[in-house]
Parts: sequence; C-alpha cells; structure tokens
Amino acid sequence: MLSLLASAIWFMLPAYVANMAPVALGGGPPIDGGRQFADGRPIFGAGKTWRGFCSGIGAGAVVGSLQSLASSSPLNYLLLALLLPLGAMLGDLAGSFIKRRLGIPRGGAAPVLDQLDFAIGALLLASLVHLPGLDAILTIIIITPPLHLAANFVGYKLGLKGRPY
Ligand code: CTP
Ligand code: MG
Repeated sequence: MLSLLASAIWFMLPAYVANMAPVALGGGPPIDGGRQFADGRPIFGAGKTWRGFCSGIGAGAVVGSLQSLASSSPLNYLLLALLLPLGAMLGDLAGSFIKRRLGIPRGGAAPVLDQLDFAIGALLLASLVHLPGLDAILTIIIITPPLHLAANFVGYKLGLKGRPY
C-alpha cells in the first residue's frame, strides 16, 4: 500500500513539478495571444502563458532527468522526463480550453477538471513509452486532487497564487 503510494508519486513527480512551476515562473504573453474562439470567449485565457508552458516543461524535465539517474532503464526514463511534463502542460491547456467553452472565467473553479486535467494529459503521453499498472493509475487519480489542492494552498499562503484552490 505504502509502496504503491510512493511509486505513484515517484512516477508522476515530473508532471507534478511541471504543473506547479508556472505558478511561480509563468506570466507574460498568453498562448492564445488574447484571441477568442468561435463562441466569443477566450481560447485558453490569460492564465495560460508561453513562459508558464515552457518553464513547466523545463522544470519537470530537470526533475525527471535527475530521477533517471536512479532508474534501471535510464533511457526510457529520459523519454518520460519529457513526455510527462509535456503531457501535463497540454492537459492543463486542454482543461482551460474546456473551462472557457463551459463559460468558466480564467481562475474560476472547475472541480475535478482543475485537479486532474494535467495528470490525464501526462498519463496519456507517458503511455507512449510506459503505462504504470492499473493499481498505480487508480492511485494516481485518487491522490492527485488532494495533492494538487494542498500545493495550491501552500502557493496561496506564500502569496504566489491569488486563490487557495
Ligand atoms: N500559468 C501560466 N502558464 C501556463 C499555466 C499556468 O503562466 N501554461 C500560471 C498562471 O499565472 C496561472 C497560474 O499559473 O494563473 C495557475 O495555473 P492554473 O490554475 O492552471 O490557471 P488559472 O489562472 O486558474 O486559469 P484557468 O481557469 O484557465 O485554469
Ligand atoms: Mg486554476
């Protein structure tokens, strides 16, 4: 049980880091360039910036590369070090796209989607190289929302985030 928990967190660490980094390092020009979708609402919104996207991938890849040093299949791991953060950032982007289509403004809450979009994106891209077992995937889906909320709360207390969720 404990080892399942530990291996799930270890596996997802590059995605978790990728998802947290933009809160501290993001900002600047938005990915959608301020443009709107056919429905007249922002494509992604001002909360999805190039700097956030790239810093998320960079920070996640650094952590994943370090982890690969401790892995028995470092080459696979180096691929995951890129795919997990990239998938996390794409999933996060897709989540914002869906939120805007639902009429939820940037920063508005979308329970479940807010906490899992990046994790699903990360797992999808990671599956190109390696998919953890079903027990690990379920563990990831169960532990990610509370971990995400806890990290956001810390970011809020540190003054990095305007909202505690
Ligand atoms: N961020 C960024 N670029 C990204 C992702 C995130 O700059 N690609 C930064 C933004 O400052 C954003 C913060 O990280 O406000 C928190 O990310 P998130 O909660 O995903 O964005 P929200 O502002 O809540 O926007 P949305 O409603 O689209 O989720
Ligand atoms: Mg948010």
